[in-house]
Amino acid sequence: MFSTAAKNPFAPNAPVPQTLKIVLCTLVPDGGEGSPEAINPRLLDGPERERAARFVFARDGWSYAAAHALLRAMLAEFHGLPPLAWRFRDNGHGRPEVDPAITPSSAPRFNISHTHGMAVCALTAGTLPEGFEIGVDAECLDRSPDCQALADRYFSSSESECLRSLPPAKLDAEFLRLWTLKEAVAKATGLGLGLDFRTFQCSVNPLSVAFDSPGWGPSNAWDLQNWSVDPRHWVSLAVRRPPGTLINLEVRHLRGTP
Ligand SMILES: CC(C)(COP(=O)(O)OP(=O)(O)OC[C@H]1O[C@@H](n2cnc3c(N)ncnc32)[C@H](O)[C@@H]1OP(=O)(O)O)[C@@H](O)C(=O)NCCC(=O)NCCS
Repeated sequence: MFSTAAKNPFAPNAPVPQTLKIVLCTLVPDGGEGSPEAINPRLLDGPERERAARFVFARDGWSYAAAHALLRAMLAEFHGLPPLAWRFRDNGHGRPEVDPAITPSSAPRFNISHTHGMAVCALTAGTLPEGFEIGVDAECLDRSPDCQALADRYFSSSESECLRSLPPAKLDAEFLRLWTLKEAVAKATGLGLGLDFRTFQCSVNPLSVAFDSPGWGPSNAWDLQNWSVDPRHWVSLAVRRPPGTLINLEVRHLRGTP
């Protein structure tokens, strides 16, 4: 539930639910499609700068560099250590996580996404309850795949039927919206595309997810949000948290460099 905890005036002694702050930032280039040189190099370590420079297309280097610089800038702002002090380790499925040696008591959780013309980072800014997970995905509506064929192949049958019922003019945008929701959920599980997209259903109205198997928790353990940040981009956020925990979500839309 995305909301802010407040004392219940009818039961002032009732326990106040735990509230967890999450900050989500989107970043777009300041004009054009961006290039890695546009990103402040003091927000990237050596391997990140090298990888950003290796992309064939400068715009891909920009979005990679922008996402990693955004992450380091946000970690510094909300968790105190300078941007380059942060180190990461792989969860075994490709997802970087804060090295627990950096913040032994409670490592912040984050997830990043980069696509044409946009970088996104979602970060926790408080003490985490057990079982908390976060995933974010951004996609750009700049390609023309056969959306219905992709949905028939990769989505659950109810999702693909739902898309089939839409007017053709709405199909691409709604497919992309659903795709970002499903990918944000998959990234929150830590498996990414290793999770079979046919084994869980996302809905946009109301925003929800339901898994075929109980392992990833009941639907009420999940909160989803999504935004059409501009006419080309969809961004989705998926949060799994203990039922009853409230989420205080801060969203920032930035331009240029973090
Ligand atoms: C992560 C993945 C979903 C990417 O989707 P995408 O739309 O192309 O990319 P996005 O921009 O949304 O996200 C990429 C970021 O997600 C993060 N990420 C990588 N693997 C992830 C995972 N399993 N779960 C959550 N997040 C992951 C990374 O930070 C990555 O950015 P980086 O490589 O610059 O650090 C997809 O590539 C994937 O599932 N990878 C898993 C790879 C894998 O199975 N590896 C097995 C290793 S044994």
